[in-house]
Amino acid sequence: MEERKMRSALLFEDKSVAFIKRFAFSISYVLLPATLLCTFFYFLSITQSSTTTTTTYRPSFSSPHPSLPSSSPSFSSERDKVYHDSCDYSNGEWVDDRSGPLYNVTTCGTIKESEKCISNGRPDLGYLYWRWQPKECNLPRFEPLTFLQAVENKHVAFVGDSLARNQLESLLCMLATVSNPNLVYKSPNDNKFRRWHFPSHNANLSLYWSPFLVEGVERSNEGPYYNTMYLDHVNERWARDLEWFDMIVVSFGHWFLLPSVYYEGGLVIGSLNCPDLNHTQMDFYVPLRKVLRTTLSSIIERKRGEVDVIVKTFSPAHFEGDWDKAGTCLKTQPYKKEEKDVEGMDAEIRKIEIEEVENAKAKASEFGGFRLDILDVTRLALLRPDGHPGPYMNPFPFAKGVPERVQNDCVHWCLPGPIDTWNQIFLQIIKKREKR
Ligand SMILES: *[C@@H]1O[C@H](CO)[C@@H](O)[C@H](O)[C@H]1NC(C)=O
Ligand SMILES: *[C@@H]1O[C@H](CO)[C@@H](O)[C@H](O)[C@H]1NC(C)=O
Ligand SMILES: *[C@@H]1O[C@H](CO)[C@@H](O)[C@H](O)[C@H]1NC(C)=O
Repeated sequence: MEERKMRSALLFEDKSVAFIKRFAFSISYVLLPATLLCTFFYFLSITQSSTTTTTTYRPSFSSPHPSLPSSSPSFSSERDKVYHDSCDYSNGEWVDDRSGPLYNVTTCGTIKESEKCISNGRPDLGYLYWRWQPKECNLPRFEPLTFLQAVENKHVAFVGDSLARNQLESLLCMLATVSNPNLVYKSPNDNKFRRWHFPSHNANLSLYWSPFLVEGVERSNEGPYYNTMYLDHVNERWARDLEWFDMIVVSFGHWFLLPSVYYEGGLVIGSLNCPDLNHTQMDFYVPLRKVLRTTLSSIIERKRGEVDVIVKTFSPAHFEGDWDKAGTCLKTQPYKKEEKDVEGMDAEIRKIEIEEVENAKAKASEFGGFRLDILDVTRLALLRPDGHPGPYMNPFPFAKGVPERVQNDCVHWCLPGPIDTWNQIFLQIIKKREKR
C-alpha cells in the first residue's frame, strides 16, 4: 500500500482575513481496504475572525476504481483525427528561461493580496525564470493580442473553485499588458462572481464561484462541518447564465477532500468522513466523477453545441511537513522531470477528469459545433513546489522573527508565476480550434 501524507488547503478568494478553526476526528473505515490517517488542513479566508481548523481523516488512495462506466474516446470525425495528433503539452519539463514574466504587480491591478508574493516579501525570485518545455514541441510565450482577437465578441466564463479565480487573474494580468479591462460586475460583499469587459475587443471574461459545480452547500464555521452536494443537479448560479457563454473553463477538485454528504435523486447516497451521521461511508472519487458528468451533460443538453468547454485537470498541493510551520512549501526550484511522478490521488482525480471529458465527447458528437478539451496541468503543476505563496500569502510573515504558527498557502500560485503557463496552453487550445 502506498502510504503518503496529503495536505491541502483551501482559500475562499473573496475575503481578506483568514480564520482557521481546529477540529479533529478519526474514523475507522469498514468499507475501504487500505487507508491511512491523514491530516487535511483547511483554511478559509474571511473578514473578521481568526481561528484554526484541522481535520484528521482517512482518505483512500487505493480505493477501487469508481464503478461508473467510462466510454472510449470518440475521435470519430476527420477533424478530430487531425488535431488528435497535435502537441501534447501535458508532458515535459521546466527549463531555465531568462525572459521572465509578462507582467508585474505594478502593471497589473487585479492580483489578489495573498498572491502578491514579491510585495509580501518573498525574497527569492528564481521561480519566475522557468519555462515549460513539452517533450515533443514548443509552447510559445503568451500572446495577449492573439488571445483577445480569438475571443473577440465572446464571453469566456471561468467556473469552479479558487484555482479558476487564480487562473483568470493570471490571464487578466497578461491581457492587461495590451488592453485595459473594465470590471463591469461584482457580486455584493464578496469577489465570488465578477465580470470584466475588454472594450477593445468586446470580450467578456467572467468568474463564477461554484467549487462543487453542482448544487450544494459549502461547509462553514457557522454551519455544518461538512459539504452537502446534490450530485445530479448542476448549480444554477452559473448554469442559468449558460446562454451567454461562448467558452467555459471548469476547475474543481480540492473541495472534494473535505467531509461531505452526497445526495442523488433527492436521497442521501453516502458521506465522506461524517462519522456522526450514520450514512454509508464512501470516498470522493465517485462523487467527483458524477459532478463532472452532471456538469458536462447539462452543458451539452442546454447549449446544443454552441459552446467550447475546457476542463482544467487537478492541480496538486505541495504541503510538506506541518502546515503551520515555516518551510511548508519553501522550495525555491522546480522538481526535475525524473524526480516526481503524478501518482496516488492526483493521478486518480486527473484520470477521472480525462475519462469524463472523453465520455462527454461521445455524447456531444451529435452536435457538430460542440468542442471539449482537457487543459492538463497536473504534471506541470506538480513539478512546481516553488510556485506557491507559502507564508508570503501574508505581508512580511517573518518581519518579527519566525512565529510559532505561520499560515501557508501551498495550493494557489503566486502571480506572476507558474500558473501563467496554464494560460499559454489555454491559448494554444483556442488557436488549435480556430484552425479546425
Ligand atoms: C514592472 O514592469 C514595468 C514594465 O515592464 C517596469 O517598468 C517596472 O519597473 C516593473 N516593476 C517592478 C516592481 O518590477
Ligand atoms: C460583454 O459585456 C458587455 C457589458 O456588460 C455587454 O455590453 C456586451 O454585450 C457583452 N459582450 C459579449 C460578447 O458577451
Ligand atoms: C446514529 O446511530 C446511533 C446508533 O444507532 C444513534 O444513537 C444515533 O442517534 C444516530 N445518529 C443520527 C444522527 O441519526
